[in-house]
Amino acid sequence: MPTIIKVLHNKHIILGVTGGIAAYKAAAVCSQLVQGGALVDVVMTEAAQKFITPLTFQALTHRPVYTDMFDIPPGQNIPHISLADSADLLLIAPATAHTLAKLANGLADDLLAAIALATPAPLLLAPAMETDMWRHPATHANLEKLRAWGATIVGPAEGRLASGATGQGRLVEPDEIVSAARVVLGRRGGMAGWQVVVTAGGTREAIDPVRFVSNHSSGKMGYAVAVAARDRGAAVTLITTAGLPDPFGVEVIHVASAEEMRAATLEKTHQAHLLVMAAAVADFRPGMVAEQKIKKKGDTGGLALELVRNPDILAEVATQKAAGYGPTITIGFAAETEDLLTNAQSKLERKRLDLIVANDVSATDAGFAVDTNRVTLLFAEGSVEELPLMSKVEVAEAILDRVERLNVER
Ligand code: CTP
Repeated sequence: MPTIIKVLHNKHIILGVTGGIAAYKAAAVCSQLVQGGALVDVVMTEAAQKFITPLTFQALTHRPVYTDMFDIPPGQNIPHISLADSADLLLIAPATAHTLAKLANGLADDLLAAIALATPAPLLLAPAMETDMWRHPATHANLEKLRAWGATIVGPAEGRLASGATGQGRLVEPDEIVSAARVVLGRRGGMAGWQVVVTAGGTREAIDPVRFVSNHSSGKMGYAVAVAARDRGAAVTLITTAGLPDPFGVEVIHVASAEEMRAATLEKTHQAHLLVMAAAVADFRPGMVAEQKIKKKGDTGGLALELVRNPDILAEVATQKAAGYGPTITIGFAAETEDLLTNAQSKLERKRLDLIVANDVSATDAGFAVDTNRVTLLFAEGSVEELPLMSKVEVAEAILDRVERLNVER
């Protein structure tokens, strides 16, 4: 079952494909958008059809592909008018230098250019061309003009080009184009204007230069929350120990220890509206970090590690809040192996949270390292909501749906 992506679901996206060798990658973009739940209408220029056929996109979208301004199905509206009017997003990938020039000059000599001129939908361009064409002042002037008119540009990347040369001008990867589409679609979402800080992963507490104490947290839950908040229009900072790929459109700060996470979190939450503390912060760290790798002594002897307490980051944030600064809303996670609700309730109160997300990490289908989670939400005003087993992406959306409804003055 493909995962429906909330910000894409039932959105009408026009995918314009223009004539460059990277046109084949538009098929992967199209497929991801359709799987995410978007309604995708593909419009191809004549040159694009030299590289990839309309049939490919028809098979992916199960919808007709538009290639000709004057090919009007009986009883239907002129395509550039009806498509332009109903679109939520016009995405052109790849966008050639020629297409950029046409758009920047308001030309409307084919269906795609006419739609671009007629649509009120936001425009997202993923340019792809040879480096010399990319560097040409004409291309730059065209892009600047389009940007000033509100277009968003993603890429191009550096890499191998059609000519065999290496340089800037390569179409960015389909994943990044789809992420950019999500960002543009989410701009006016329910969290537009919010500053959101999310922490993720298990902290690593050094023993010596090569060893550390840590836990099984993968960071997946925190990343899902960061991406979901981004998709709702928030400016998101993700403070993470995990080695997962940096999400597009999110400020990512990599840390290792609880001390580093504390410093970054306190700095970033100063102005924030929301802190989601999904990280599994180690409560203890080795009291002494050996400067050199600890060596075995003799054939049998063990090693005793003395652990000292780490700062409680959420408790410090609560103190900040009480003093009148720090995030408006704070959310914690309680990973428990027993007495789930009692323990979570006590953390909710002790850390003065607005919401705590409790999960039983002893279950095999929930908690650490898996893609699913079964959580119970405990709110500061006393209500408790048990959610069924869901993907972590769905849990993230469910949490943020509740956050948007929280009656907290921002
Ligand atoms: N947390 C934190 N700083 C710590 C420990 C935990 O900010 N030093 C945060 C976690 O990110 C989580 C919440 O507090 O959002 C609860 O974490 P958890 O480890 O479940 O609870 P503890 O406070 O460590 O309590 P206990 O030792 O009783 O489990």
